Amino acid sequence: MYLPRPRTDMSRLYLRFYLTVLASLLAFALILLVLWHLDGGGPVSHRVSTLMALPLVAVIVSITAYPITRRLTRRLERLQSAVELLGAGNLASRVTVEGNDEVARLAISFNRAAGRIEELIGAHKTLLANASHELRTPLTRIRLSVDLIANVAEQECKRGLEQDIAELDHLIDEILLASRLDAIVEADIDEEVDLLGLAAEECARYDDVQVEGVPIVVRGDARLLRRLLRNLLDNAMRYGAPPVAVNISENDAVAEIVVHDHGRIIPPHLSGRLFEPFYRRPDTVHHSGAGLGLALVSQIAKRHRGTAHYREAPDSGNCFCVTLPTSPHQ
Ligand SMILES: Nc1ncnc2c1ncn2[C@@H]1O[C@H](COP(=O)(O)OP(=O)(O)O)[C@@H](O)[C@H]1O
Ligand SMILES: [Mg+2]
Repeated sequence: MYLPRPRTDMSRLYLRFYLTVLASLLAFALILLVLWHLDGGGPVSHRVSTLMALPLVAVIVSITAYPITRRLTRRLERLQSAVELLGAGNLASRVTVEGNDEVARLAISFNRAAGRIEELIGAHKTLLANASHELRTPLTRIRLSVDLIANVAEQECKRGLEQDIAELDHLIDEILLASRLDAIVEADIDEEVDLLGLAAEECARYDDVQVEGVPIVVRGDARLLRRLLRNLLDNAMRYGAPPVAVNISENDAVAEIVVHDHGRIIPPHLSGRLFEPFYRRPDTVHHSGAGLGLALVSQIAKRHRGTAHYREAPDSGNCFCVTLPTSPHQ
């Protein structure tokens, strides 16, 4: 994961520390010089050699102070990187404990807290996955009972029940897939997938969706990539407006899938949250759905070492974009 390197400016602790030492030495030299003059001074040769020695002392002190301050701030920087990684969602982020001072104790506390967070989140995920799995059996029983409703007068109610069951089934399916994706290791993903062919197959499920671009092969899981495309296309048909188009392109060994619809532009304060699990825009909550579709798109893209993001279309409408590296070692 990319972490910005700290800027080489005055905001860096070691530079401030270092310059402070240097400034105090120079101030010390200046005071000595003033006192020397006030005192009438000693022999000229003595004064000149003392004056020449002072900058030398300043240079020696600054050279020796540098590695000490740098070592301390390097450890703090490593700790900062680990905290940022944890904040970015990498729950396995830990830091190596060096020495036995305050920084080392801070590192131990960080590792302990990160371990506890990982444990708690892991337990919640397992609970959610198990609960969803257990819901499948009673849901199947309810579906069978609903199928047995033969009374003509109850057909309206039967259709409503069938729709509710289908929605619940879809939700369970999305939760189970999300938990499975958390557990899958990247190395499992190793099929050759033709993105243009896959997009053409998925677009054929709808009446009026255009597909364009060049044939690009990526290594991945065809079933997951199909699911990714399907979620984006379902959204474009449901929340966007025609014409809807899928474009497949490649640049610098990175494939890009763009699903473009001509619906109303999503305001920036809402578009930043679209990929969060269970997030649904307030004006679309009347549609069925749980807000997991785009979170799954993002998870699937990450599994393939790619990204998923939203951007406003240059002409009009909304673009949902997925980038996937085409080279396995990228
Ligand atoms: N193409 C789109 N145009 C406008 N809004 C969209 C589009 N795709 C997704 N959204 C918004 O993002 C939200 C999250 O989408 P998603 O994660 O697929 O969940 P769901 O479809 O279950 O609501 C949707 O509720 C909708 O408000
Ligand atoms: Mg959706």
